[in-house]
Amino acid sequence: MSKTVKVVVIDHDPLVRDQIVSALSSQPYMEVLAETESFVYGYELIRQNRPNVVFVDIREDPHRTYDLIKRITTYFKDTMIVVSGHEISLESIMAAMQSGAREFLKRPIQASDLNALLEKHHQAFVADASGDNTGRILTVFSNKGGLGKTTIAVNLALSLSEITKKPVALVDLNLQLGDITTFLDIMPRQTIVDIAKNIGRVDATYLETSLAEFRHANSHVYVLADPLNVEEAEEVTAEQINTVLTVLKATFEYVIIDTTTSFDSKTLTALDLADQILLVSMVNLPNIRSSQRVLNLFDRLGYDRQKVKLLINRYLPDDEITTQDVEETLGHEVSWKIPNNYQAIMTAINRGIPISTLQDGKLIYQNFIDLACQISGIVLHQGKKETKVPVPVKAKIKEKEMDTPSDNSTQVDSASSPAQEPSKRKKGFSPKQTPVEKPARKSLFGNLFGKKK
Ligand SMILES: Nc1ncnc2c1ncn2[C@@H]1O[C@H](COP(=O)(O)OP(=O)(O)OP(=O)(O)O)[C@@H](O)[C@H]1O
Ligand SMILES: [Mg+2]
Repeated sequence: MSKTVKVVVIDHDPLVRDQIVSALSSQPYMEVLAETESFVYGYELIRQNRPNVVFVDIREDPHRTYDLIKRITTYFKDTMIVVSGHEISLESIMAAMQSGAREFLKRPIQASDLNALLEKHHQAFVADASGDNTGRILTVFSNKGGLGKTTIAVNLALSLSEITKKPVALVDLNLQLGDITTFLDIMPRQTIVDIAKNIGRVDATYLETSLAEFRHANSHVYVLADPLNVEEAEEVTAEQINTVLTVLKATFEYVIIDTTTSFDSKTLTALDLADQILLVSMVNLPNIRSSQRVLNLFDRLGYDRQKVKLLINRYLPDDEITTQDVEETLGHEVSWKIPNNYQAIMTAINRGIPISTLQDGKLIYQNFIDLACQISGIVLHQGKKETKVPVPVKAKIKEKEMDTPSDNSTQVDSASSPAQEPSKRKKGFSPKQTPVEKPARKSLFGNLFGKKK
């Protein structure tokens, strides 16, 4: 974390100033710019340095404090003001709050009150200290088990790290029975339970030193592992997950989250915070039906459909149900297809090695590299990172459909992906194809979902 939360302390009592300064100095991301008793000098410091937080006391003439608070909040709207006073009448608290103060501390200030305040705003302070929140959270989800969430989360994290040439965070939110450490054959130094216990200390440095690292070839992944014991999973709260994910987002360019099938508050936190949800499905009726239920629920939760990318796993090009059928039934575009390769994936899992190291895993490995390119907008040319083109996924799919092999500067050659079998590629990726003659199975398909086809 490069930046800090800047603080100015204005208080008539030097002992109180010392008390506040020493409490703040226990937080590595807090930086006290100055402490002073003078309102005039204090305001000048605020004007010059635009601190994130100002501590100020209510004095004999409380209106001087209220005026100062008003001035600060008028000109520096993002500055949080913590006011302290002996008088805790509702009237004085209201007057301070109406002037623009965000928090009130009763004097004499108790260490526990000060710590509680720091804890309460920890997440916001960490986000401030991290500067721009440029990271993206990708949550891999399906409401049926065994569809390939962990396979996709792990391989996507490895590929994104390889093509961005930066570390990627990989979080195992399957708290009861997570698999990521098995897939990567790593022993975590700490699990999410340890991190939850130390939530007040969580910042980028803390996470980087406590997460398990996995390095292979050009991939570098930091893993936040699931608890060692099933019972421990209950100890982790949704609020703690919220804080950890916020810090990870502020620290890493990509945060990939593997989830469980349940819609509990912890999974919902990961879905809410996601910049993109990768909804995993397979081309068969039970799975498509359950994907429809999930999409309906996402609609009810108010998620923008653009936030949800549908991934078909274990794709077989000659499947009776086509990608177009899936899209029409769900009213949702299929963003990506991952080919079926049980042998390679199982061998990689059993040996705890990346799929790229297996001879028969090359095609599926390439598919994950292509997916990472699609997500990041990075265009690879002969394996080298070239440019970052912020094109929306839908637009990129259209480019793919245009299929201009002579132009090497466009998207990754989609023909190299086994998922995009040339004869079906256009059909599978376009939601607005001219309807084709449907086989008998098709009407059953439509009726099952009560969808007019
Ligand atoms: N593209 C694929 N081709 C063939 N087999 C696959 C593919 N993706 C995953 N599998 C297989 O599917 C099984 C389940 O995969 P995985 O553990 O990733 O699913 P999951 O959704 O994480 O399951 P759970 O809900 O139990 O956590 C594994 O045995 C894996 O080998
Ligand atoms: Mg799993």
